[in-house]
Amino acid sequence: MRRALGKRVVVTSSTRGIGRGVAETFLRAGAKVFIGSRNPEAVRETLESLRKISPAVWGITVDMTSLESVGRFSREARETLGGIDVLIINSGNPSNEPATFFETTMEDWIQSVNLFLLSPIKLIREMAEDMMKGKWGRIFFLSSYTVKEPKDFFSLADVSRSPLIQLTKILGRELGPFNITVNTILMGTFDSEGARDSISKLAKRRGQPFEKIWLEEVVGPVPVGRIGDSIKDLGALLLFLTSEEGSYITGSYIVADGGITQAV
Ligand SMILES: NC(=O)c1ccc[n+]([C@@H]2O[C@H](COP(=O)([O-])OP(=O)(O)OC[C@H]3O[C@@H](n4cnc5c(N)ncnc54)[C@H](OP(=O)(O)O)[C@@H]3O)[C@@H](O)[C@H]2O)c1
Repeated sequence: MRRALGKRVVVTSSTRGIGRGVAETFLRAGAKVFIGSRNPEAVRETLESLRKISPAVWGITVDMTSLESVGRFSREARETLGGIDVLIINSGNPSNEPATFFETTMEDWIQSVNLFLLSPIKLIREMAEDMMKGKWGRIFFLSSYTVKEPKDFFSLADVSRSPLIQLTKILGRELGPFNITVNTILMGTFDSEGARDSISKLAKRRGQPFEKIWLEEVVGPVPVGRIGDSIKDLGALLLFLTSEEGSYITGSYIVADGGITQAV
């Protein structure tokens, strides 16, 4: 079933890992998709590969730590797609991560807040206009379960992205009358270059083998015994929330984590 047929979808930070899997899911479901990331070669290669699935995919470079760059990306996406129906905000990671609080600098915090909070706000301020005009829309923040259970070494990300839960609630109320839903997904561990890179850095810091941390601390504690797949475990959820069957869910966070979150 092509559940997103004709929908105009933007996925940010989407040339690798989770964002790319989500972009592919929507493309296969019949959407027109706009992607982006910092590296021009990655954008080119991703477009080339995704166009084998459907030609309805476009993209440019964007740095989510720069509001100016995000503004350019937003203009280009709106012009190319002729408006936006679904905005899926994914991010990269701060350059100085993993780092505990006193290992960070003020520059790290400015970068992190731009990446996780101010860029999403800018994208919504611009793109929600299209959705309000069309009286239909979907906005998703792709976040992490660690905003509820912060990890010392993800201090930058966990602190910078946690206000999006408040924003989800506020926007859910303001945009509900326009048939626009707003939700945050709190993701557990999904297999990606980023996840493996993060564990490699941690392994180096601790002087432990990568495999030990991966098995004992990443895969081991997940009750369902595996880590997530961005297409099957996340893309499918986003497609459901985009469909009419998902239209009663808004202002919420949904945990997709194989059960790893301890808190109720
Ligand atoms: N994987 C997990 O287990 C997991 C769990 C919970 C939350 N998350 C969060 O999900 C997000 C994606 O994680 P991932 O594991 O898929 O990472 P990834 O494999 O490293 O992929 C990150 C993607 O974002 C792009 N990107 C990075 N920094 C960017 C920036 N400043 N501006 C624009 N694009 C940028 C990268 O391309 P370029 O390098 O070309 O920019 C790449 O396409 C991260 O915010 C991460 O914290 C991940």
